[in-house]
Amino acid sequence: MKQNKPIAIFDSGIGGLTVYRELKTRLPHERFIYLGDTARLPYGSKSAETVVKYSLQNAEFLVSLGVKMLVVACNTASSFALDALVDRFDMPIVGVIASGVRRALALTRKARVGVIATESTVGSASYQNLLRELGPQTEVYAGACPLFVPLVEEGWLDHPVTREVARLYLEPLRAQGVDTLILGCTHYPLLKGVIAATLGPDVQLVDSAAALAGEISSLLTALSLERRPEAGGSAADDFYVTDSIPRFQRVAEIFLARELDNIRLVDLGVAPRREG
Ligand code: DGL
Repeated sequence: MKQNKPIAIFDSGIGGLTVYRELKTRLPHERFIYLGDTARLPYGSKSAETVVKYSLQNAEFLVSLGVKMLVVACNTASSFALDALVDRFDMPIVGVIASGVRRALALTRKARVGVIATESTVGSASYQNLLRELGPQTEVYAGACPLFVPLVEEGWLDHPVTREVARLYLEPLRAQGVDTLILGCTHYPLLKGVIAATLGPDVQLVDSAAALAGEISSLLTALSLERRPEAGGSAADDFYVTDSIPRFQRVAEIFLARELDNIRLVDLGVAPRREG
């Protein structure tokens, strides 16, 4: 039965676990399959062509497992590859950009919105273009924060170095008077504390992962794709990585604040067996 199939999530690596965490909290009865393309990360400094190619391979693998929906957790992949994915696969496919934009436009009072993301996401102008399209009066300011990703993976969520880096990256946005800031990268929700302390209480932070979880819940209902109660309680989720399991496992614990043991290694060059 289609409703009882899992929801697939992919990311360039570990960061997409922020999206997984939000989805699991919001939809505890759904089953998820997560793929972190850890062998080929980061995506945030790669070209559009490369990110599209990797994203199609990731999706090919997940779709072959028999899933009912594909969530692109990675902001960089959502920026570059969403159209190509929608063209290639006949299933609901959702990225993170639109939900973050809609939430930011609903929150901003002065129509001054900032976006922070990887270099590639900022360079793609995906957030900037959609903000201007859906909110034509909106002043948009974007900044790349490439050091945030390694700082999070180091577990330096509230470290003096992280606070200083945040000050340097965020000061120009604060000077522009933004009242709403989109955290346009999978890792940034883990730095909410430092970012909020740097920008002060007048700037509202938009967590794209949280915004997306709400929209996916509505989409499942609209498409009658919610997992049926008779399929049993909260089923175990599957995690796949394309490189070292121990490193993923260690950093995953920073993201999820719990242990993960069912992680499998996958070679995306080899077609998996279809399940169910
Ligand atoms: N997942 C990426 C994103 O949200 C950040 C990490 C990377 O650069 O691969 O853009």
